[in-house]
Amino acid sequence: MSSLTGKAGLVTGAGSGIGRAGALAFARRGAAVGVLDLDARSAEETATLIAKEGGTAEPIDLDISDEQSVQRAVAHLEETFGGLDFALNNAGIPSTNRELTEMSAEDWDRVLRVNLTGTFLCMKYELPALKRRSGGAVVNTASNGGLYSIPHAPAYVASKHGVVGLSKAAAVDYAPDNIRVNALCPGLTRTATFDTVAALAGADMAGQQAAATPLGRLATPEEIAAAAVWLCSPEASYVTGIALSVDGGRRA
Ligand SMILES: NC(=O)c1ccc[n+]([C@@H]2O[C@H](COP(=O)([O-])OP(=O)(O)OC[C@H]3O[C@@H](n4cnc5c(N)ncnc54)[C@H](O)[C@@H]3O)[C@@H](O)[C@H]2O)c1
Repeated sequence: MSSLTGKAGLVTGAGSGIGRAGALAFARRGAAVGVLDLDARSAEETATLIAKEGGTAEPIDLDISDEQSVQRAVAHLEETFGGLDFALNNAGIPSTNRELTEMSAEDWDRVLRVNLTGTFLCMKYELPALKRRSGGAVVNTASNGGLYSIPHAPAYVASKHGVVGLSKAAAVDYAPDNIRVNALCPGLTRTATFDTVAALAGADMAGQQAAATPLGRLATPEEIAAAAVWLCSPEASYVTGIALSVDGGRRA
């Protein structure tokens, strides 16, 4: 894959899991990376890991569900790096494992606010920045739960279907500006979120899910991050508006 030296971008949810792996992967290709997370300390840890490898990173704590916080972060990075070429909008939260009728409206709002509205807010401020560079690429982390249902996760499934739809809408609207927008749909990946969901499920979720996956195992965060980097790279220059499953064959 070609180098991203001279390019700059950002990753949300970069303090952990897929986001941290993504930030490291972009930096290893030579890009300067904004490392954004709700948890300031974990964002700083990721930035330190990048700096130790000789890369360029700017840690910022932000809440993607807060418009001012997103606006500030994007403006700061655009100024610091002299422009933005890509964004991996990856921060997201799982929903409590509940059936729809047992779910509170507050829980519903919380999941939709972060996963869907948060992704919208990020794009609202990133797209003008990419336009000022005469083009760029956005990847929004959805989920296989954005393509089909996951039992007892109605808010999560609805929010991730929303992320896929939002990505397609933006792909069509911003293609004339030379901006590509794609959704990334990971299958189950070993991260902190997975561990939380597995603990709630109570059974040997990792084992059961691995057995149900044609490749016989869960993904690593690095395997998902590699697809995000490809989608932002020149090699994917004709790819826009897709929802890319990276799921060990699960969807097949
Ligand atoms: N792990 C999986 O199996 C899996 C599968 C499909 C999709 N995904 C999606 O991948 C993305 C990353 O998940 P992960 O498993 O790496 O999770 P993770 O919990 O390891 O990391 C998520 C990060 O997002 C941050 N975050 C949460 N809310 C935020 C907010 N409001 N603003 C800014 N940052 C916030 C957290 O602090 C955390 O560092 C999520 O969107 C998730 O829905 C994960």
